[in-house]
Amino acid sequence: MLSRLISSTRGIPERGDVPEHIAIVMDGNGRWARKRLLPRVAGHKRGLETVRKVVARCMEQGVRHLTLFAFSSENWRRPADEVSFLMQLFMQALREEVKKLHKNNIRLRVIGDMSRFDAELVETIREAEALTAGNDALCLSIAANYGGRWDIVNAVNVMLRSQPDKRDGFTEDDLSRHLCLADVPEPDLYIRTGGEQRVSNFLLWQLAYTEFYFTDCLWPDFDEEAFAKAIESYRKRERRFGRTSEQLAPGSIKQD
Ligand code: IPE
Ligand code: IPE
Ligand code: MG
Repeated sequence: MLSRLISSTRGIPERGDVPEHIAIVMDGNGRWARKRLLPRVAGHKRGLETVRKVVARCMEQGVRHLTLFAFSSENWRRPADEVSFLMQLFMQALREEVKKLHKNNIRLRVIGDMSRFDAELVETIREAEALTAGNDALCLSIAANYGGRWDIVNAVNVMLRSQPDKRDGFTEDDLSRHLCLADVPEPDLYIRTGGEQRVSNFLLWQLAYTEFYFTDCLWPDFDEEAFAKAIESYRKRERRFGRTSEQLAPGSIKQD
């Protein structure tokens, strides 16, 4: 099923399957802290603990790809001290966690526009990616200075540069080949904690047929039970990709 690997909008996962790829907008850290009269950054620190737990749950459940929104291209608009804390936390987490990730056969990659990061952070990212490049139990992608629109425009620019003389028009496949997660199936399940029901410029192209799950639970409170609820909700859904329910009956055509 090669096309399923490239695009989940072509293959049809069975109802009851565990999602192969989960994408999460980890929202609500600031409110979690405010509720406790703590500074916002305390929420980000606690949020990192949730990341560790969610990675472990994904490994247990056999989820193959996990993509986490850590810092959006719009998050630079936050107060300078919060941005700087987030960058330091990111650097520290990379340094502290990478060996453990490697030991657990987890591949780490960072997606987003690295050009605005300082050289030391970029080097730490590249080292972590290189160390874990051969791992295949779970592919953990951290979206940092990531924007879905940036990803698409970047892909268009790379595509045009790679085939400057093409005159007969580009296809969706031509473009998607240059997106950050080109080699990863599109997300099956999108989870957003923190109560907002929006995409906030996350994986715009890749979410075309993803199942959405929104919860009021704040990211630092997103525990094992909350994660299990999201998976359960996904497993009950029938994914049709434009077809009718009847077409999905056992023995019917499964591919275009
Ligand atoms: C998400 O939590 C983390 C980042 C955007 C880095 P927030 O910091 O957005 O938390 P709220 O939405 O203010 O509660
Ligand atoms: C989205 O959260 C980005 C991350 C979780 C990293 P925000 O809290 O920044 O989203 P908006 O701006 O409120 O939509
Ligand atoms: Mg927020």
